[in-house]
Amino acid sequence: MSSVETTARILSGKPVADQVLAEVTEAVQALRAAGVTPALATVLVGDDDASAGYIRIKQRQAAELGFVSPHVHLSASASQADLHAVLADFNADKDVHGVLVQHPIPGHLDYDRALQVLDPDKDVDGMHPVNMGRLALGLPGPLPCTPAGIEALLAYHGVPVSGREVVILGRGATLGRPLAMLLAQKRPTANAAVTVVHTGVPDWPRYTRRAEILVAAAGVPGIIQPEHVRPGAVVVGGGVRYEGRRLLPDVDESCAAVAGAITPRVGGVGPTTVAMLFRNAVRAAQRAAGMA
Ligand SMILES: NC(=O)c1ccc[n+]([C@@H]2O[C@H](COP(=O)([O-])OP(=O)(O)OC[C@H]3O[C@@H](n4cnc5c(N)ncnc54)[C@H](OP(=O)(O)O)[C@@H]3O)[C@@H](O)[C@H]2O)c1
Repeated sequence: MSSVETTARILSGKPVADQVLAEVTEAVQALRAAGVTPALATVLVGDDDASAGYIRIKQRQAAELGFVSPHVHLSASASQADLHAVLADFNADKDVHGVLVQHPIPGHLDYDRALQVLDPDKDVDGMHPVNMGRLALGLPGPLPCTPAGIEALLAYHGVPVSGREVVILGRGATLGRPLAMLLAQKRPTANAAVTVVHTGVPDWPRYTRRAEILVAAAGVPGIIQPEHVRPGAVVVGGGVRYEGRRLLPDVDESCAAVAGAITPRVGGVGPTTVAMLFRNAVRAAQRAAGMA
């Protein structure tokens, strides 16, 4: 049992994910009733056990939600051209609505280059440069899953964001940077005063200590300690590092004694990220079917 005194409200991701997935299930049923079978294709490169496991979990969940999941498994020696060819085939297949490339991919391959081959409208991770551009311009399109999941998590738990100061530790492409764009948008569940800090701001605790909402997005285990948190603040732990199967979060568990609300060590941002992937996939199918 943890020795940390927890006074903070726990912001679980599970009910948020359940709600999003219930909406996805309804949308899938409506598509099927209209004669469209939503398809989320998956691509695995190499033989990494963990990646193979993650793909299996997503395929199982896709099947439960009513998607079909055509799958391609390329060998660890596949070339960049092989990967591009698979993506080009899925781009051309009008029955495939979304494509997921499990990452990391083997070191000799360039994930970002491959991503640029993918049709942006089939990019369920929301990470294609066109989709990042759409996000920056406030245009509709697939949203990056982890940032979209964090906005949904805060909204679900009734955490006011509009007009409040959000400080994000980390400006990475997956989390910190797109989250800053998302939460600064003019929308009731966003509309925040967003500050992003990173290694270029050595005195970053000066900013995190004044945050009403603090998001850890650094991937440095334990970087957020209680002295970095304003008493009563909302703390969202997005950054994690894996050592083998061990998950090491950015937010030290002792922060729960200072925060007013905090995501749990496990079951916070993770489930909402996966739910957003399926939301992107079903929306891609809706767009393709003219049912968006
Ligand atoms: N929970 C989930 O489902 C989920 C999903 C996706 C990603 N993640 C996690 O989110 C984290 C961020 O991923 P990412 O790809 O967006 O970012 P990233 O590219 O790994 O960048 C990390 C950011 O943190 C900053 N940083 C690192 N060490 C720091 C330090 N000591 N002091 C201040 N700033 C520091 C870096 O600053 P500089 O820019 O100055 O180098 C950088 O901006 C990772 O841990 C990733 O595993 C979690």
